[in-house]
Parts: sequence; C-alpha cells; structure tokens
Amino acid sequence: MSVSLPDWLPEDIDPTTPSVARIYDYMLGGFANFEVDRTLADGLARTDPDLIATTRAYRTFLRRVVTYLVAEAGVRQFLDLGSGIPTVGNVHEIANNIAPGVRVAYVDIDPVAVSIGRRILTADSRATVVRGDVTRIDSVLDNPAITGLLDFTRPVAVLMLAVLHVIPEDAGPRTIVARVREKLAEGSYLAISHGCSDGPRHLVDKINKVSQSTSTAAVMRSRDDIAALFDGFDLIEPGLTDLPRWRPDEVPDDIPATLALGGVGRLAPRN
Ligand SMILES: C[S@@+](CC[C@H](N)C(=O)[O-])C[C@H]1O[C@@H](n2cnc3c(N)ncnc32)[C@H](O)[C@@H]1O
Repeated sequence: MSVSLPDWLPEDIDPTTPSVARIYDYMLGGFANFEVDRTLADGLARTDPDLIATTRAYRTFLRRVVTYLVAEAGVRQFLDLGSGIPTVGNVHEIANNIAPGVRVAYVDIDPVAVSIGRRILTADSRATVVRGDVTRIDSVLDNPAITGLLDFTRPVAVLMLAVLHVIPEDAGPRTIVARVREKLAEGSYLAISHGCSDGPRHLVDKINKVSQSTSTAAVMRSRDDIAALFDGFDLIEPGLTDLPRWRPDEVPDDIPATLALGGVGRLAPRN
C-alpha cells in the first residue's frame, strides 16, 4: 500500500500496520491516524457500539486521575508510560492548569506519538517526551531525559493508562510494575486503567482477535489480575472500579458499563 505521509513524521513508521496509538487518536477525534487505523477502528466499533464511549471513558479517567493527584494528593511530578498521541487533553496541560510548575515525562513506543509530542513540547522545559518501551522498563527509568527532569527521591505519580493491556504475559507486566515501584519514593502513586476480560465473552474475544492485526495486540485481564498489578500499593477510594465510577464529576443514575477498570494506588510503606 502506498501512503503519502506528512513531512514532519519520522521515516521509520509503518503506515500499513494499524497502531494502537493512532487508533486511539482516531477514536478521540484526533488527526494523527491513517486509513488502516480508521478501518480497523470502524470494524471494532461495529463489534462494540460502545467502543467510542469506552475510549472517551479512558481519557476522562485520565483527566480525573491527574486532577485528583495534583489538587488533592499534592503530586508535582508525573511519569506517563504509554502516553499516546498528545492531541486531546494532555497531562501537563491538566496539571499545570491546577498548579503551575508540575513536571511531566511522557514515554511512548509509537514514533508518531513521540514526534507530535516533541513538536508540542519544544518550548516547555517542564515536560519531555521520550521514545521508550515499557517492556524494557529499566532503560526507560534510567533514561537521562527522564532522570534529568524528574526527581525520584521525591513523590512521582506513574500513569500506566490503557497501556498494560497491550503488554503480553511473557513480557511480565507484574514485574514491570514492580521495577517501577522499586524506583519510587514514599508518597508516590500508581494509576492504572486496563481492559477487563470479565465482560461479555463474545466482545472480549472479538477485541482480542481484531487487535492481533495491530502492532501491539490487546491482552484483556480479569479483575483479580488487574488488582494484582497494584501489589505494593494501597488503593485509594473508591478502589478498582469501572472507569466512569472512579470519582466521577457527577454521578448519573445510570452509568453505562465499560470493558475497562481503573484505580489509583499510593505506595505502601516499605518494611
Ligand atoms: C490506548 S493508548 C493510551 C494513551 C493514554 N495513556 C491514555 O490513557 O489516554 C496506549 C499507548 O500505549 C503505547 N504503547 C503500547 N505498547 C507500549 C510499550 N511497550 N511501551 C510504551 N508505550 C507503549 C501505544 O503506542 C499507545 O500510544
């Protein structure tokens, strides 16, 4: 397939293989996506008509989590792992609107996400974007661009939002989170949102199957397996919930269920 690319995009992207970052961007109404991404997203949306609502639920969960962490928990540093294409509602914008001076390091494996992120952040010394692979977490945590911006002797909130469900079991998602935990100082936080396999079987199977054609296939997990990712953290209220039920701005009577759970944990005291 021949695809003409905007000249500001890096040369090493494959516009013929759908990418999770670009599909997500498309579903959020962004511009950084290609025909292959839109075709696959439209196919998924036919399988699950609520998929767009679920995608937005991920993004609004991010907004509420960052708002809580800055406004109520007093966090001033963020490490956003699997940060996505920064087109709609970014962590540094949400955080700095509440408390100017918050530092944010974004990490993503997708070259389009990193390229657009760098363009947006060129003039901002309090935020950086790094191309990195969370399955190689030590190289991410030791990246000088990150250690130069974030002070890991002080509290950091680590966001792993809508990313661990594209990390396969053999890459050791619990070990990855444990390595992150070891790096963190007292008063740090971990936020996770994750596709949950406890929903209707036919939808879960379909999403898993369709996602096989992307550069990073989905691995939905059970509630128990998602809860286990918070090992070493104390979940703050209301715990691990369906995304729209986590500290909603308002509580409608009838919140549609999503196939996704989210929560925020505070680093538990180490013995
Ligand atoms: C669905 S988006 C989520 C974006 C954002 N965290 C949010 O919740 O709105 C998932 C992102 O994870 C990135 N990703 C997937 N596998 C990754 C990996 N191994 N390392 C780093 N980023 C990864 C994708 O490129 C994509 O941008």
